[in-house]
Amino acid sequence: MRLLIVLLVVASAASASELDWWKTALIYQIYPRSFKDSNGDGIGDLNGITQKLPYLQQTGVDAVWLSPIYKSPMYDFGYDIADYREIQDEYGTMADFDNLLNEAKSLGIRVVLDFVPNHTSNESAWFERSAARAAPYGDYYVWADGRNATDENGTVYAMPPSNWVSNFRKSAWEYHPGRGQYYLHQFVIGQPDLNYRSDSVQEAMKDVLRFWLDKGVSGFRVDAVNKLYEADPNNYGGVYPDEPLSEIPGLGPDDYEYLIHVYTENLNETYDVVYDWRDLLDEYIATQGEYKIMMTETYADLSLMIKYYGTKTRNGSIPFNFSFLEDITMNSTAWDIKTVIDRWMTYMPSGRVANWVNGNHDKSRVGTRQGVDRIDAMNMLALILPGVAVTYQGEEIGMVDGYVSWNDTVDPWGCNTDDPVAYASVSRDPERTPYQWDGSAHAGFSTAASTWLPVADNYLTLNLAAQIAAQKSHYHFYKDVVANRKSPAIQEGDLDTKALSESLLVVTRLLPGEAGMLGVVNLAAEAQTIDLTSLKILPSDLEVVASGVNCALEKNATLTKSSIPVSAHCALLFRSGIVGGGNAAGAHYLSLPLVLLVVATYSITACFS
Ligand code: NOJ
Repeated sequence: MRLLIVLLVVASAASASELDWWKTALIYQIYPRSFKDSNGDGIGDLNGITQKLPYLQQTGVDAVWLSPIYKSPMYDFGYDIADYREIQDEYGTMADFDNLLNEAKSLGIRVVLDFVPNHTSNESAWFERSAARAAPYGDYYVWADGRNATDENGTVYAMPPSNWVSNFRKSAWEYHPGRGQYYLHQFVIGQPDLNYRSDSVQEAMKDVLRFWLDKGVSGFRVDAVNKLYEADPNNYGGVYPDEPLSEIPGLGPDDYEYLIHVYTENLNETYDVVYDWRDLLDEYIATQGEYKIMMTETYADLSLMIKYYGTKTRNGSIPFNFSFLEDITMNSTAWDIKTVIDRWMTYMPSGRVANWVNGNHDKSRVGTRQGVDRIDAMNMLALILPGVAVTYQGEEIGMVDGYVSWNDTVDPWGCNTDDPVAYASVSRDPERTPYQWDGSAHAGFSTAASTWLPVADNYLTLNLAAQIAAQKSHYHFYKDVVANRKSPAIQEGDLDTKALSESLLVVTRLLPGEAGMLGVVNLAAEAQTIDLTSLKILPSDLEVVASGVNCALEKNATLTKSSIPVSAHCALLFRSGIVGGGNAAGAHYLSLPLVLLVVATYSITACFS
């Protein structure tokens, strides 16, 4: 009987973890092209990822999200998909993918794929059939007739259907001679926008989700989701209306920010599509016994972002929280950072899951954006705050943006500037340079004579092997914080953020009956000593469990909360005694069952006295 109860408890605990894994997952973003090249062609691939899975397991990663691996002409490096069900040749084969998935599962790592629903490639069979008006593809894309305009000589010339601008600059419309109409592309010319007002498109995209879910992937990162819908021409006299001008000084008609995107972004219809996908993913919980995560990519106002979470009656996605990327700079104070954290927690609907993103393949790296002295601090914050943490490959070793000359530039955004100087302000190549594994040629990324993007110059000193060998490193710190992420306090504890001054930030995660966790960040260039006696519930005894590269206090050092010396630019993670368990030093060495046992023994003794 007792055995049965134990088995039942174990079984229900296992299924609970399969259902809840996503709520505190550490998701590691892999940009396949730049992670590891296994076949010496200078381009990362699936087998390279599989080779490195043990590294990710040792680091403590729960899931990997792979940027697109599908068949693509690579005008936007895989975000222009020619076939959603095929693997791009240079990344490997479907058998390589199946192998990756199996290996990952055997190591306890889940695989999340990039789902790119807004657009395909112009080399997709769907687009070719749509251009030929073949049923049912005719309205799969956003097609429109051009407008006629007349110049001062009275000559009539053709204009695109509206003034809409691509996110990567210049007109968002491209004329297709075969069809005799323009098609919309919110990104590069080779990325025609799908038409979500077509039921067939909606069904076709659901089938894409099913294809990969049937293979056993654990969910999706959804690309550019707020661009799914455009204004319905039926409401505007049959045409696509011009967008109003933003009137931001210094911008011209080719610049995306020249317009206010009232007709091409954040349309209300979008949210129901996301909720429908959520329902579809939920159908797999019953068949595969695992929750399928969905994280949506939107750069928009917070009030619009949080709608993706769902409504009172419908579940949605986890909208990526880009506030660490967008709202924290190298000049941000502890007050600013606290405000950024609190803001998301305040606006997030109750019962939903927070998330923290420090980098991705579209944004300058933390060390470049915020300065190398803040790398440990930002990594720690993302890892100890409630909810999902997302790490972009290389952030765990503090990689910084590589230099990519105009001649080596391949990012379409950079190329579209047509300008050997201005390209640098928009090109995303610098954050995509290959992963720095070691000090060998091409940083151990590839054995090819040259790589698709150059490896950053600093790889001889900044690489994973060197950081593993070093006594202190960004990697050791990251790994130590990740190890403590599994503690009950970080998994479930209450959050409190305090800016003690302009430069001192303190984050506590406290759960009654468990050791507390305390993150301390000193943003200043001078050492400071902190007194945390005002934090009444925080137990007094503290032990350093992770010490950043700039910190003098070492791991395992013990001290009390009334006097915590923090070096300049140092990030420290502490474990405290048991919350609510008194202040006795060493209390944290007692596990909860032991505490209960001691209490029980005491009361029995008391009965006999
Ligand atoms: C967002 C992706 O992250 C970016 O890399 C891509 O260029 C655009 N969406 C278009 O798919």
